[in-house]
Amino acid sequence: MIDTKSTGHGTWSSRFAYILAATGSAVGLGNIWKFPYITGENGGGAFVLVYLACVLLIGIPIMMAETMLGRRSQRNPIEAMELLTKESNADSNWHYLGWMGVIAGLLILSYYSVIAGWSTAYVLKAFTGSFIDADASAIKTIFDNFISSPIQLLFWHSLFMLATLAIVVRGVNNGLEKAVQYLMPALFVLMFLLVGYAMTTGSYFQGLHFLFSPDFSKLTANSVLTAMGHAFFTLSLGMGAIMVYGSYLSKDISISKTVFIIAGADTLVALLAGIAIFPIVFANNLHPNSGPGLIFETLPIAFGAMTGGWLMGILFFVMLTVAALTSSISLIEPTVAWLVENKGFTREKACLWSGGVTWILGIGTIFSFNVWSDFKIFERNIFQLLDYLTANLMLPIGGFCIAIFAGWIMLAQHSEAELNMPSTESYKIWKILISYVAPASVFFVFLHVVGVL
Ligand code: PFF
Repeated sequence: MIDTKSTGHGTWSSRFAYILAATGSAVGLGNIWKFPYITGENGGGAFVLVYLACVLLIGIPIMMAETMLGRRSQRNPIEAMELLTKESNADSNWHYLGWMGVIAGLLILSYYSVIAGWSTAYVLKAFTGSFIDADASAIKTIFDNFISSPIQLLFWHSLFMLATLAIVVRGVNNGLEKAVQYLMPALFVLMFLLVGYAMTTGSYFQGLHFLFSPDFSKLTANSVLTAMGHAFFTLSLGMGAIMVYGSYLSKDISISKTVFIIAGADTLVALLAGIAIFPIVFANNLHPNSGPGLIFETLPIAFGAMTGGWLMGILFFVMLTVAALTSSISLIEPTVAWLVENKGFTREKACLWSGGVTWILGIGTIFSFNVWSDFKIFERNIFQLLDYLTANLMLPIGGFCIAIFAGWIMLAQHSEAELNMPSTESYKIWKILISYVAPASVFFVFLHVVGVL
């Protein structure tokens, strides 16, 4: 996929390869695991509406900006920011933005890998028939027993980290490009089949009502922050993942078109996941706000009850694992690229170091579901703290800075040329969104959360 041999810093083999990789980065646990449970915790419809508005007005313009910064510099995020800062004669402190991205990526991966490990473990559970004819309480017992075992979680976390590193160490290769080419469409088909099952539960419209009829009284400042943070998380924005993928993008490809395709596919998968899951929640008298276990406590009920559910269960968790894998490689790639290109590490050594640090950090998340579940700072366990710190704070702050840089610091002729939309209406709209709307929205949400507004 990326040819790194000839130039040191590679390029994608085609526009399609890039779309697959970037969609692979965007579509992951964020869509299928996180979106439903945070929607459940934040009261449904109004939260979904804020999230969709954030994707449209903040996410898409920033995704264009981040891709553009990567492609213009053709460097890893840390070097990219250094280079672009010089090109624009700006303050050299901007390069800390690259640093923050690298740190955010490793912090996210540390818990992402633990949850992806749950998904891998559930492939085995589906295979051994654990869900067949199991009712909601039996499925909940399976989940509770599973997460209370640090050894099991550690095993699956380690396995997932190894799989991530095995791919990253080779450079993002052809094998993956082929795999993603089939698995992504298959994931879509499976999501539609699950929606089909949801229609038979008798609570389909209750689920739709929960997702799409907004009740703004349920919206707090923190849920607005969570919705905004999730727009960044789900589109992989604010930390350099999309920047590094953009840096492998050849100059003749339209950034705006590809960004719309990627963001559209990402949003569709999240909405399908919500439409599939909430009817099952209501039909089984479960609670929408049951937290990170939501999909693991609901979907197995469907797999246990439907015809062909055994196979569907296996396929679903395999695909969720693969979707997580195509995201996890993008979480670690900025660090690996920087260690290789700037610090003279071999790819192996870079993977070993960044993977090792992430693996150890992951243990904190594992323990927060069992032995350290009572250990809380600001009423949050380690997993919740890491999630809040990265998704709700670091990514929006990173995105805010990217917007300011692209809108105010970078010369207009450079962004115009890179986006390939010279003096068009679309460029003007983008420029307004990136210079004013996106940064101001992030700023106001933050002000609101600290209680100033
Ligand atoms: N977008 C991924 C998901 O929704 O699962 C998670 C993610 C990947 C976040 C890469 C940030 C990132 F840089």
